[in-house]
Amino acid sequence: MTDIRASNRDFEKYHQVRKDHSYRLAENEADAFDEGYEIRTLDFSAFLSGNLEHRARFANEFASALREIGFAVLTGHGVESALYDDIHEGVLDLFTTTPMDEKMRFRAARSGSVAQGYFPLEETSNIHPDLVEGWVWCRRAFDIPQDRERPFRAEEFWPSADHERLFRRLVLAHEPLFQPIIQAMFQGLGVDPHLYDQKLTRTNFGLRLNHYPPMSLAQDRSGAGRLFGHEDVDLFTILPASRIDGLQVWNHRSGKWVRMLAPYGSIIINTGDYMQRITNDALPSTTHRVGKPSDRSHLTVPRVSFPMAVYVWEDVVLEVLPGLGEPRYPPVKAITFHTRSTSKFYGDDYAVDED
Ligand SMILES: [Fe+2]
Repeated sequence: MTDIRASNRDFEKYHQVRKDHSYRLAENEADAFDEGYEIRTLDFSAFLSGNLEHRARFANEFASALREIGFAVLTGHGVESALYDDIHEGVLDLFTTTPMDEKMRFRAARSGSVAQGYFPLEETSNIHPDLVEGWVWCRRAFDIPQDRERPFRAEEFWPSADHERLFRRLVLAHEPLFQPIIQAMFQGLGVDPHLYDQKLTRTNFGLRLNHYPPMSLAQDRSGAGRLFGHEDVDLFTILPASRIDGLQVWNHRSGKWVRMLAPYGSIIINTGDYMQRITNDALPSTTHRVGKPSDRSHLTVPRVSFPMAVYVWEDVVLEVLPGLGEPRYPPVKAITFHTRSTSKFYGDDYAVDED
């Protein structure tokens, strides 16, 4: 089904965590906006280099922002915005100079848990005709430390090895943040901050590049949005703020959408389904989508974004963390959890069941 009137309720059977709310996948005239709500911006340097007291205060504020809406904006993370400039240009270059037949050679397919490869315009999922083209790579597609069955060969994953080298810089800049981010979340929840240190050492991830070309007038009128409402299937996502606005976040309390306004150079962190599962619903996997920008530049200017989803490897068992109450969920292998969830987007045969 690809239908701009589809509701999240049409896909309930795929959900592996509680999702009680209802929303239409595309932005529509019935949507209400929570204009007064501001997603919190926090200075991560307090946790990265502060004393015990600074760290504790940051952890509490971070966990409290995430409990409330599942999103927070971080400054002081130590990644230079010049890198984000380079990646922005690299994304435009990749999508606009790679011929379509070359892109289609890398068409997305399951690699472990992750749907890796190229997603054409309107085919980000089977369920919604979004006006975005995307490209996803997991850890195996990068020449970085990991266990491998055979030597790394860039041409298996990339149209050019130059692209791997460029996007590897982003991966290497973000990877050192994985542990501090989860440590701060866990500390703020009153859980042992180091419970996932091992699991997040050389862990799997999905780097997704999104290219939203300028819309034609016909596309603008079609009712399709830039990216449909969804929840991330991961522990958390690191999303450098885009130069063009449009990200909208579901506020569970008001039942309205909040416009994300994060300054360029900051990173947006949101918790996903894995995190909701292991925190026994304490940290929500919050719905978000990309609508048209406030300045109507979607008719003339492309939008670029490059979220990085942080996963655990396929054979790790996701269990409710100790100290967060009577578990509402049984333990489940990550590959089963992940692919059952994402078969919502890629079809029932995407699911892999491993006990
Ligand atoms: Fe997302």
